[in-house]
Amino acid sequence: MELINDDVELRELQATDLELLMAWRSNPILYEWFYDQAGPLHWEEHYNWWINRRNRKDWIIVFNGEFKKRDVGSVNISMLNSDYPEIGIFVGEISLWGKGIAQKALEIAIEYLKNEKYSGATARVMNENIRSNNLFLKSGFNKVGMNEKGEELYKLTF
Ligand SMILES: CC(C)(COP(=O)(O)OP(=O)(O)OC[C@H]1O[C@@H](n2cnc3c(N)ncnc32)[C@H](O)[C@@H]1OP(=O)(O)O)[C@@H](O)C(=O)NCCC(=O)NCCS
Repeated sequence: MELINDDVELRELQATDLELLMAWRSNPILYEWFYDQAGPLHWEEHYNWWINRRNRKDWIIVFNGEFKKRDVGSVNISMLNSDYPEIGIFVGEISLWGKGIAQKALEIAIEYLKNEKYSGATARVMNENIRSNNLFLKSGFNKVGMNEKGEELYKLTF
């Protein structure tokens, strides 16, 4: 199955991507939207996350844009043992925000889940995160509630 949508592709995260992922996730402009992260990542916690990863898939978003294909962000799907796995996404190259990259990457992740015969997908987004709330609404998700942490809960049924 090809994970391609126009000028955006997903490729599976590998150990050689860990430094880039850590650098992206250590940017406060990015992690202010991650409920469970209060500061830059430390290598040890990041590496432990990698080796203990279970029940999820992580991809690098590759953008076929100017000059060469380049890595610009990441998408993950967790809770793969449920009927409605959870999708998370970020574009680490923040100067690329607002150009439709996340929406295309999200469409690929949704296609993947459809092909794997899941019933749908879920997402959690911080209430103040206007960009991301718009992204999931625009991609067909419905708001189904809010959890005790103040995260909006989204659900898409295929
Ligand atoms: C949220 C995020 C992934 C969006 O990435 P992006 O590539 O900029 O998103 P897109 O360009 O595909 O935009 C998709 C939709 O999001 C919304 N959006 C994008 N930029 C926006 C902005 N500046 N203000 C409001 N909504 C915006 C729009 O609805 C947009 O569609 P439209 O421009 O056609 O109307 C990116 O901003 C990011 O990585 N943020 C930090 C991490 C994060 O919040 N992750 C999500 C946690 S659940």
